[in-house]
Amino acid sequence: MRGHARASANFALVKYWGKRDAALNLPARGSLSVTVDALYTETTVIFEPDLAADCLSVDGRPRPGAATLRASRVLDLIRAAAGASLRARVLSKNSFPYGAGLASSASSMAALSLAAARALGLDLSLERLSVIARHGSGSAARSLHGGYVLWREGTRADGEDAHGSQLHPPEHWPLRVLVALVDAGEKDTSSSQGMQETARSSPLYAGWLDSVNPDLEAAQLALAARDLAALGEVMERSCLTMHAAMMSARPGLLYWRAATVALIHRVRALRAEGLGVYFTIDAGPHVKALCAPKDEAAVRAALEATPGVTRVIACGVGGPAR
Ligand code: PMV
Repeated sequence: MRGHARASANFALVKYWGKRDAALNLPARGSLSVTVDALYTETTVIFEPDLAADCLSVDGRPRPGAATLRASRVLDLIRAAAGASLRARVLSKNSFPYGAGLASSASSMAALSLAAARALGLDLSLERLSVIARHGSGSAARSLHGGYVLWREGTRADGEDAHGSQLHPPEHWPLRVLVALVDAGEKDTSSSQGMQETARSSPLYAGWLDSVNPDLEAAQLALAARDLAALGEVMERSCLTMHAAMMSARPGLLYWRAATVALIHRVRALRAEGLGVYFTIDAGPHVKALCAPKDEAAVRAALEATPGVTRVIACGVGGPAR
């Protein structure tokens, strides 16, 4: 009745922003990500006869409320698959700051789905676990697999085909991802709420959706050819197109801080100096820079020297949840 799992976070190269079904957490379009090794969640799930409700602790702190409800959505699907009704104690530990806009929901929901399945003796495929983890957080659908991962939008109404699939294993292309943490201050709008507001009110939402499939195709070609300039170009435009749609929602959603903008300029200045480095930004102020291993030291020094950056976390391409 006890299972343990570790799953890594992932960052989207071509972004997910918008749902075609909020209840099933189905994406309006596909997305493509890289799994990162240094940011991971380790989770133990223990199903216990005496528990009245699921309870969750993260990094040693109890997390009743929204975080537990989200975990219960995933646990309910695992219980249904196993024909079980016991409630669970979930102990989760992160290798990085939790809830700070660093994709902790992706790694934590992926680790939870696998740990809970193992605890109940279920041997589910990564695709099936991806569908289950998706109910806790959309991007978690991409965190079961290692390497470069495509989350298909799927066509089935029940969402069973909207799961992550590995396109390439980590060794296909050992790129580096440097995460520049920006001191954020207040809490941001959650991605689910932000997506809803963008879909409801942004005049650019339709244009954003139209941009995704061509970007997915271009990114897959660039990945297959290991063409960093081509991949970087798609990654930056997917990020900027998504943020343009967010910013033009009513009221406008602005996740960036001054340091976020400074980092964008810094990355572009490094490129002008001949380094192969490209940025992406999610629903928060931090900037992730993608580069080849040979440029890592120079990129890292430049990011660390940018005013407002508190820390840089260096990641390689990560493996599957296990
Ligand atoms: O998985 P969610 O619901 O937290 O949404 C993730 C949204 C972005 O991080 C902004 C983009 C992405 O594809 O990961």
